[in-house]
Amino acid sequence: MFLPWYSAYNTGIEEFDAQHKHLVDIINELYAIRHAESLQETVDGILSKLIDCLKHHFDSEENHLERLNYPELEKHKAEHQKLRKTIEMIQGFHSSGRWHLAADMFLELMKHWLIDHILNDDKEALTFNG
Ligand SMILES: [Fe+2]
Ligand SMILES: [Fe+2]
Repeated sequence: MFLPWYSAYNTGIEEFDAQHKHLVDIINELYAIRHAESLQETVDGILSKLIDCLKHHFDSEENHLERLNYPELEKHKAEHQKLRKTIEMIQGFHSSGRWHLAADMFLELMKHWLIDHILNDDKEALTFNG
């Protein structure tokens, strides 16, 4: 398994834990088929699904943090924004046909970024209660 899920990754908020787990599932799905030469459409589809889910996830987290009046909201948004920018760069490779490179870059990025962000930022932010 490329990216196993451990209970230590749970924030305790069901909605976001489910979204994080779903992201990890899609990342593992992408890893499993990333080098299948004949499956460009499948890689394309999974990569697009992952990007859509990530964007949706960031939006719902940011809305949640706004409702909580989380004092570090801007900092948290900036972390998401950095990833959005990187995704755009990777999508550039993707749309120029270098989709294997795009998949590999994306997997490496997600492996480190997602778990670090959950453990170091999301856990504290999402459970903020003033
Ligand atoms: Fe998150
Ligand atoms: Fe986050």
